[in-house]
Amino acid sequence: MCGIIAYVGEKKCRGIIINGLKRLEYRGYDSAGIAVLMKEDGKKNNRQFKPDSYGIRIAKQAGKIAELEKLIKGSDIDGCVGIGHTRWATHGAPTQINAHPHMDCNSKIAVVHNGIIENYAELKEELISKGHKFVSETDTEVIPHMLEEFNNGDLLIAMQKLLKRIKGSGAIVALNSQVPDEIIAARIASPLIIGIGRDGNFLASDMPAVLEHTKNFIIVNDFETIRIKKDSIEIFDIDGKKITREPFKANWSITSAEKSGYEDFMLKEIFEQPFGVKETMRGRLIEGQLDFKELNMTSEQIRSLEKIHIIACGTSSHAALLGKQLIEKWARIPVEVEVSSEYRYKDPIVEKNCLFIAITQSGETIDTLAAIREARSKGARIVSITNVVGSTVARESDAVIYTHAGPEIGVCATKTFTAQMIVMYLVAIYLAKETGRLDQEKIKEILDELEILPNKIQSMLNNSEQIKRIADQLYKYKTFLFLGRLFGLPVALEGALKLKEVSYIHAEGYAAGEMKHGPIALTDTNTTVVSIVPRDSVYEKMLSNIEEVKSRNATILSIATEGDIQISRYSNYVFYVPKTIEELYGILTIVPLQLLSYYIAKNLGRNVDQPRNLAKSVTVE
Ligand code: AGP
Repeated sequence: MCGIIAYVGEKKCRGIIINGLKRLEYRGYDSAGIAVLMKEDGKKNNRQFKPDSYGIRIAKQAGKIAELEKLIKGSDIDGCVGIGHTRWATHGAPTQINAHPHMDCNSKIAVVHNGIIENYAELKEELISKGHKFVSETDTEVIPHMLEEFNNGDLLIAMQKLLKRIKGSGAIVALNSQVPDEIIAARIASPLIIGIGRDGNFLASDMPAVLEHTKNFIIVNDFETIRIKKDSIEIFDIDGKKITREPFKANWSITSAEKSGYEDFMLKEIFEQPFGVKETMRGRLIEGQLDFKELNMTSEQIRSLEKIHIIACGTSSHAALLGKQLIEKWARIPVEVEVSSEYRYKDPIVEKNCLFIAITQSGETIDTLAAIREARSKGARIVSITNVVGSTVARESDAVIYTHAGPEIGVCATKTFTAQMIVMYLVAIYLAKETGRLDQEKIKEILDELEILPNKIQSMLNNSEQIKRIADQLYKYKTFLFLGRLFGLPVALEGALKLKEVSYIHAEGYAAGEMKHGPIALTDTNTTVVSIVPRDSVYEKMLSNIEEVKSRNATILSIATEGDIQISRYSNYVFYVPKTIEELYGILTIVPLQLLSYYIAKNLGRNVDQPRNLAKSVTVE
């Protein structure tokens, strides 16, 4: 939920750290800070330094990175070794004092941390009884004080001792002014990667933070401790045993993590969807033939599947709901979908011949991770669908299917959602093909349609001005109900999530047929109903549901199929999507809803890339 970056090398690091933090701001944006090792000769800040010795200089500020930048403008804080942090508050309000880095009593150790120390209260009490003085309300502050307690000259060993005492999660990065040429780090269940540079090395929560400097990375695993210097990288386990690990090369480009002329990442990412969809199909769907080696299952194993479980959170859970409908319809395998945060608390049943699919764009969502660990402990085979190569979920799965949407920086999932939908289509058809439960002609029809989807998405994007005009009319409404049936239902749920996430307007996604069982009571002149009403097998039913809300004075926006003239009689506004087959309307109808949320939020002056209270990767439970 927080972002970390660190650099040790030949260059001055202030700019590297500030730029890195900006690229990580999607992970947390309520306060930020930087700590740098600087030569401090003589007397400074009431401390006497020996000639040529180093001190730690810290600057931190509540608010976004821009506030931190303002704070350090004109100051000389800079050096060749430094750490930075952007925070999403858990323990302690987002104030300057609670912002990271935090220090020990003697200001010799500075720490940034992403995660939660669950036993911090007990540790803090113990440290206070030993005379340590705390200044913040954070759980993190116990870390520098414990390192101070354990430090006998090698902070790496102190870090290993620390890992044995703390409970919870954390990527921890520390500076030690007594050893000014190294950075020490550790990881328990929060992402941390090492970037290998030409004139120095990096640590970061995520690749985009340092992509402009390197594409060569090493992943840090749980309970590992790290020592990086400008020309060396060492990895150790919790007992100090050295570990060797090969680096990998990232195929993300730096422009994919930049706005490239768009006003916001969210808008850029919406417009990148034709590319993300095409990339996600590439290599899997070739000239009408489907290949899915990554699934890593024999036809026999697939035929013997009796059940599939899909778990995910938020937007990814809506892709899961679509997947359930597709797999059940085409491959006739029963599918259960559950939100990860509920899964492991109910003593879940893992059947003998079942497959467990985890969907997570970040691959780091802690609840999804906990759910796959629970399922694995009960013998499940885990396939994950994620956008981040080498993420924790990917590494803990038996097979990984990557969505190739490119890095998604906006907190709101857009292009990763449509890429996940594509994977759901491909997996469902593949299972249907292998089980022989869908005839060749139908398979061909679906695959042919899939291949032309990117062009259809593009044609809608070319018409985005129309959605903007509709948003200009609707942004003052207080309540939005998104209604859909069948393949339109996951779209309705996702449309509502998008709108509430970026605009803060009350929105609900509902099965249209369920309206009369309660939600219709909400409907009045302040309500906009967004109906997902393509020309599919439930079209007529949807028309009746629209009538019901229209007669209760709601304003109606219909997302309908081009050529459907009838729908305009039922609607105040209509946005037309290109014609496709019933099952594929999901992916076409979500795109205008993403644009609608974007333009409504912009009308309301919201920060769409960093909505209040949210973070991109939810690494705390
Ligand atoms: C989507 O717009 C949200 N930011 C959120 O619901 C997100 O989908 C959820 O946190 C799951 O994340 P994941 O896909 O990385 O696991």
